[in-house]
Amino acid sequence: MVYVLNSHFLTTGKVVDEFEKRLSQYLRCKRTVGVSSGTSALHLSLLAYGVGLGDEVITTPMTFIATPNSIIHAGATPVFVDVEPETANLDTNLIETAITPKTKAILPVHLYGQMCDMKTIREIADSYRLIVIEDAAHAIEGERDGVKVGQLGEAACFSFYPTKSITSGEGGAIAVNNEEVAERLRKLRLHGMSQGPAERYSKRYEHWDMEMLGWKYNMDNIQAALLLNQLENIEKYWQRREEICRMYEEAFMDDPQVTYLKTVPDSRSARLMFTILVPLEKRDKILWQLQEKGIGVAVNFRAVHLLTYYRQTYGYHRGVFPVSERIGDSTISLPLYPSLSDEEAEYVIKGVKDVTSSNGKI
Ligand SMILES: Cc1ncc(COP(=O)(O)O)c(C=O)c1O
Repeated sequence: MVYVLNSHFLTTGKVVDEFEKRLSQYLRCKRTVGVSSGTSALHLSLLAYGVGLGDEVITTPMTFIATPNSIIHAGATPVFVDVEPETANLDTNLIETAITPKTKAILPVHLYGQMCDMKTIREIADSYRLIVIEDAAHAIEGERDGVKVGQLGEAACFSFYPTKSITSGEGGAIAVNNEEVAERLRKLRLHGMSQGPAERYSKRYEHWDMEMLGWKYNMDNIQAALLLNQLENIEKYWQRREEICRMYEEAFMDDPQVTYLKTVPDSRSARLMFTILVPLEKRDKILWQLQEKGIGVAVNFRAVHLLTYYRQTYGYHRGVFPVSERIGDSTISLPLYPSLSDEEAEYVIKGVKDVTSSNGKI
């Protein structure tokens, strides 16, 4: 890290190239392109595959707003379908009901780290000639049915926001298996310029051209240096989060007040978040009482279609996606990070049990 700060080259250069190479090796994909956030990764992927005005993109309402917002930024319309009750991931049985002649892409989100059923999603996409862009912001370490994130989609998008498994403060990346698309993404992330800063300043000056209209979404060397170090330890971090999740699962397995989402057989969840579901009419009170005990809880996420902008712009209302709404109204995320000790995890478990069992007082 210090070597980058002491160098003359803080913006996109060799360190970004090195991070992209190592991330591609880890993901076993052809190329990755470092960008400024998970949101810009989604936006650029849609643009690189020509998704735009008049197109519809099928996605889930159980996600962070970045997912559908990026579809709108690309000029297209997000079309939500409901999720599976066990995983909160896109329900593949409902996708075909939402396909119209305007549908251009499917944008599944591997929520909390559990991968969606990518084999089925790929089959549906192929039979309707659709593009698949994976929102893998939660799932760098994910695998399912022998497939890793990014192996069946046209692109997979990652976030390095501080709540993610590796972080550069802000940052993101796109994994693709197509060299031509990777080159287009490299230009789109930097205004559409024919040369990046490294090419312009490391050899005899050549005039650059602007070949397409791009954005200012490039990852810089400082971010890449922070990430390179963490990428080396990514499996160790994952292992610890897996242990904590197992502690939580064991503790709440037979709890009448608390349920949790399931990991799917033949899969490896990236275990980015552990969410419990509590009686929805008491959720907010339980959340506040846990906060009063000093437990760092959060809500990831309330169903997107019920947020004001989505209601007003697309006419969504309560009742259209009942499974997402129920999960969004009853979910609480528990603390989950590698430095959480067993004692702290036990304190969280006791806190949740005390608060949820004191029914009358809530
Ligand atoms: C599911 C999901 N998709 C996309 C994003 C966007 O990532 P970023 O904040 O890096 O733009 C997030 C961020 O939290 C997310 O949780």
